[in-house]
Amino acid sequence: MNEIHSAGYRAHTNIALIKYWGKRNKELFLPVTSSLSLTLDAFYTDTHVEFDTSLTGDVFYLGGELQNEANTAKVSRFLDLFRETAGKPNLYAKVTSVNHVPTAAGLASSASAFAALAGACNLALDLQLDAQTLSTYARQGSGSASRSLLGGFVEWHKGEGDESASSYAEAFDDADWDLAMVFVIINRNAKKIDSRLGMEHTNQTSPFYALWPQEVEKDLAMIKPAIKAHDLDTVGQIAEHNAMKMHAMTIAAKPSFTYWEPASIEAMTIVRELREQGIPAYITMDAGPNVKVLCRASQAETIKAAFAPRFGADQVVIAKPGPAAHPLEKE
Ligand code: ADP
Ligand code: DP6
Ligand code: CO
Repeated sequence: MNEIHSAGYRAHTNIALIKYWGKRNKELFLPVTSSLSLTLDAFYTDTHVEFDTSLTGDVFYLGGELQNEANTAKVSRFLDLFRETAGKPNLYAKVTSVNHVPTAAGLASSASAFAALAGACNLALDLQLDAQTLSTYARQGSGSASRSLLGGFVEWHKGEGDESASSYAEAFDDADWDLAMVFVIINRNAKKIDSRLGMEHTNQTSPFYALWPQEVEKDLAMIKPAIKAHDLDTVGQIAEHNAMKMHAMTIAAKPSFTYWEPASIEAMTIVRELREQGIPAYITMDAGPNVKVLCRASQAETIKAAFAPRFGADQVVIAKPGPAAHPLEKE
């Protein structure tokens, strides 16, 4: 008789206000700097995992489609962490995942994906890993996933040396104030240069990278008290500057590259015009062309309307702070 251990988990995406952009240890996904993000309610991943003694290899379905060898290999390497912890190195799994977020488009699908998979594996194998340890596991699927296990504002501590256990994410503030993030979705397609490659190329070739660790340290030290004080203008200014510094580094890489598209610049112009009208609205962008606008929840509809002349209604999505990752009901 075959034995099955299964569980389902939901994790929401997160967008960094202070970005993670570089690894000091690629194998362990240890970052060059700490980072700080906001988990969001509008975008998430649901993942079911079924460890089954009758399987002879892992199987991975994403959005109903059986995935190719390369995509399955990434998931398998991640499952190995949990199999080894459980002392069952030959126990294979069927993973079934649905992204309620465009995949690989710079909207943080890798964050919700690996946080959901980590939660599901922990539960299915009854490992009972504590939140901190589970974050160090999620990190090894995708760095940003360490932060998606938690809700609200989350800080990912860079940790020390090659010490995997020292680099984990922790809740910073529950973000239960008048806060939203408006997403201007410019392109839902998968990016040409994925986050992993983009950050490595920047790290290795951009002369401005040398400045990045100290800039992040200063930005983190300034943004943390501003978040606690619910000071949206200060939070927004620091976050926008941090994102611009990240994107400036990619332009200065050799060869140069950018995640921006012409429409990204149009969206950013609209945000600056809103600000000139006295509406607090601040830009952040990740490894993709989509623009995210940090604003007051009470003004999110006004901000959405400002994009209407240029972008379709389905291209503008209002997100609020989101919850921690959690188990899905058994079906
Ligand atoms: P994003 O901006 O969406 O985070 P990344 O380049 O960081 O883009 O990561 C995209 C990769 O994450 C995909 O190519 C795939 O390998 C992985 N991924 C995305 N969604 C899932 C999922 N639901 N389950 C497992 N892996 C996923
Ligand atoms: C720009 O976590 O997707 O969104 O660790 O290589 O999987 P890997 O990369 P990923 O990178 C995220 C980069 C970012 C900034 C951030 O989320 O902090
Ligand atoms: Co990602």
